[in-house]
Amino acid sequence: MTANDLAGELSGRHIVLGLTGGAAAFKAAEFCRLLTRAGAAVQVVMTEAGCQFMTPVTMQALSGRPVYTSQWDARADNSMAHINLSREADAIIVAPASADFIAQLAQGRASELLPLLCLARPAERVPLLLAPAMNREMWAHPATQRNVEQVREDGATVLGVAHGEQACGESGEGRMLEATELLQELVAFFTPKALLGQRVLITAGPTFEAIDPVRGITNHSSGKMGFAIAQAAQEAGADVTLVAGPVHLPTPRGVNRVDVVSALDMHEVAAQLAQNAHIFIATAAVADWRPASASGHKIKKDGSGTAPQLAFVENPDILSDIAHSARAQSGELYCVGFAAESEDLIANAQAKRARKNVPLLVGNLGPATFGRDDNTLVLVDDEGVVELPRASKRRLAQQLVGEIARRVSGSTA
Ligand code: C5P
Repeated sequence: MTANDLAGELSGRHIVLGLTGGAAAFKAAEFCRLLTRAGAAVQVVMTEAGCQFMTPVTMQALSGRPVYTSQWDARADNSMAHINLSREADAIIVAPASADFIAQLAQGRASELLPLLCLARPAERVPLLLAPAMNREMWAHPATQRNVEQVREDGATVLGVAHGEQACGESGEGRMLEATELLQELVAFFTPKALLGQRVLITAGPTFEAIDPVRGITNHSSGKMGFAIAQAAQEAGADVTLVAGPVHLPTPRGVNRVDVVSALDMHEVAAQLAQNAHIFIATAAVADWRPASASGHKIKKDGSGTAPQLAFVENPDILSDIAHSARAQSGELYCVGFAAESEDLIANAQAKRARKNVPLLVGNLGPATFGRDDNTLVLVDDEGVVELPRASKRRLAQQLVGEIARRVSGSTA
């Protein structure tokens, strides 16, 4: 998922973005831009050390608001910038958060405006998120680890850290997350946890059925819908595993991914994982048939002008198999199927729902969705038919996750 997919998702949110001293401060400039693009109002607050790495002028230009650096700022009529700023915020996110800054927080110190406003915030309604950034030795130091543990205990959310090359030339743990990752974390943070504690299994993408080592049969499924659902379910608090056919899509943040090629592979992996899942969502466009036997070597033209005769056998129906399992029958596993139809969407979706034995079947018009970023969905269950009008696959995935969560919590309540 790119930052563009998150356009508008923070609209109406007021974010205080804090910068402390660290070479990762350059990423905060990009992060600030992404926050405003996502619709947030951003108030930047910088520590003295932070101003050594980025200038308030840059951050003002990117946020569209004058930056605060001092608790003695004369713009605060009541001389209480720390109170005013912390009361207005929906969240405070400090990126980068240096080792020294985390140490100050752990001790409840308030030597300048940023730590002061973190201390003064009403913790029950203004969450504090920290994106640490430091050298690997500083990160690994027991003092830092103690402080991180302490600030977590005190209610802060710690994002990352990432592993990799560091500004100092060393390599290891302690890198700040990238700007897009920080944005995704913040969007996920604000998402209601409707699927908390649920293990969700999703199949996505096409399958590839080999004819010989270089050729095979596949289809135009892009996997975008399944990947968007995986992301939305993860943001809603679920533990998500995505079984993906051959697609060129990045793994959604926080999602476990198992790559497979053929329908038989997908069947084996999904059936195994379904034994431990609470929700199974089958979005994969699984090939109905596969060549009866794949040739071990490339089939060559023999010059006679006759084409090879291919015999096919039917693939297992993954969804139907899992939906007929004992766990699904007993209600421990809630199954959701997809139907890509070219006509009579609702009638076909209803018939498919009964045939596959799933409580919820989601219909879409195949040719109108393959490869596109938007879609229209029709939800068919025993309550009737609900239409989700044309929207981005991201938006539809969020709505669908909400619909599934409502049905699952209804069935266990
Ligand atoms: O029968 P049809 O392919 O139209 O059914 C579509 C639904 O069944 C989708 O949810 C798809 O992921 C699932 N399916 C499956 N295994 C198959 C065929 C379809 O899981 N072999």
